[in-house]
Amino acid sequence: MNTSRACSEVWVEGISAYLPHHYLCHDDLAVRTGTDPEKYARGLGCTSMAVLHPMQDSVTMAAEAGLSLLTSYGVDPASVGQLIVGTESGVDWAKPVAAYVHEMIGLSPRCRTYDVQHACYGASAALSSVGAWIASGMAAGRKALVIATDVARYDDGSPGEATQGAGAVAMLVGDSHTGVLRPDLGMEAVYSSQVMDFWRPGHRSTAVVKGKYSINCYLAALAQTYQVHREAGGEGIDELDYLLFHLPFPRMSEKALGKLMEAECGQVDEETFSKVLREKVNPGVEAARIVGNIYSGSLYLALASLLENRGARCTGRRVGLFSYGSGCCAEFFTATIGDSNECWKGRTGVERTSTSSTRIGVETYAAFRRETSRLNSDDSFKLGHMPCADSVPPDARYVYLGYRNQKRVYAPGPAGRIARVGSQVGRVSRSVPQPVGPTT
Ligand code: CAA
Repeated sequence: MNTSRACSEVWVEGISAYLPHHYLCHDDLAVRTGTDPEKYARGLGCTSMAVLHPMQDSVTMAAEAGLSLLTSYGVDPASVGQLIVGTESGVDWAKPVAAYVHEMIGLSPRCRTYDVQHACYGASAALSSVGAWIASGMAAGRKALVIATDVARYDDGSPGEATQGAGAVAMLVGDSHTGVLRPDLGMEAVYSSQVMDFWRPGHRSTAVVKGKYSINCYLAALAQTYQVHREAGGEGIDELDYLLFHLPFPRMSEKALGKLMEAECGQVDEETFSKVLREKVNPGVEAARIVGNIYSGSLYLALASLLENRGARCTGRRVGLFSYGSGCCAEFFTATIGDSNECWKGRTGVERTSTSSTRIGVETYAAFRRETSRLNSDDSFKLGHMPCADSVPPDARYVYLGYRNQKRVYAPGPAGRIARVGSQVGRVSRSVPQPVGPTT
């Protein structure tokens, strides 16, 4: 293999998110949980949360994001040499999400595929790894696809429930010297520590979390990474144009900024804090207010949110990004935004949050939760018995139908006429999806 193309610049050349079609407003959740809606609106900073349809999962979301990216950026699937999925809501203990996605989006058999798991940090670890692969020249002109995909699910009625969300963000990484974002290679400030702040034992479908403690762990990791970043000569808050944070809930951005400003200048007056929050932080938070926590994709949804919100005004700007995965591993890194917004305008997928979503009530939300549990139990596949089939999102190119013979069964969704599954091109009827792939 040709390894002579070592390069000093690695670019996130494209970004595309897939966000669920359905959403639940926090005002409705507040009635169900008997909570003052102001707690959700002001205390957590949330307006609504994305609710994933039971016939979709971390696999189908990753495939949707990957397909959107390949299509909207005109990428030849054969040019992709690595597909890495960052997820903490994978569907199997052994088989990676990446294996399913590889087939669903039609990548080459020569493409390496695997998942990276470290709570919400997985996709950042993947980005770092493919950055090194490309910078070293080992990629020899090939691209890497990093897809963050997760469903954030907490127990019914628990404090975490209001911070749920779901979504996938796909990023194309290469050496073409242009694109969405150029990370500063080798400048990442990393911090790891074994803490039990948030985890999900193998037998559970919902996370276990020590809420307040997890916030403290996040802030401690932020302070540590920022200190390392500054000691290595990295820019301070004043020199960075934007700050993007992992967002377990939107108001976490205020706590994070407070921590950074305290580290930078000690006591901070309210007016200065509000100005920095408004100008440098809030543009990246808007999507999370509507979508909720999407775990490994959260930081990159913040990036997409910033790009869509600021458009041409953020080209060429410097940005600081903080990734946090409970457990924990964290990273603060800096990057430059590309110099043409043509690279992302209308392609990030974030505009879907305001244009094509469907509001559901608490009854449908509860029904979706029940059906998700049923479909994830053994032998749940029963063709013709799909209580939620009529509410499958019209834009779904793939749907999940349940387990048959210990295997997950997927089929093309309503928009699946253009979706490829191996050599098959599926047609789909809205109410009775037909399985594809090796299901027996
Ligand atoms: N009006 C206005 N504000 C109100 C209010 C009201 N009526 N009632 C409460 N509030 C405020 C509170 O004062 C509080 O504000 P401060 O943070 O400024 O103190 C805020 O609303 C939240 O209230 P509580 O602390 O009482 O809320 P809670 O006990 O329900 O817990 C939570 C909040 C810990 C975030 C909980 O939702 C949770 O456990 N979430 C999941 C875990 C999480 O998000 N952890 C974050 C760090 S870990 C991480 O980043 C990884 C990850 O993705 C999970």
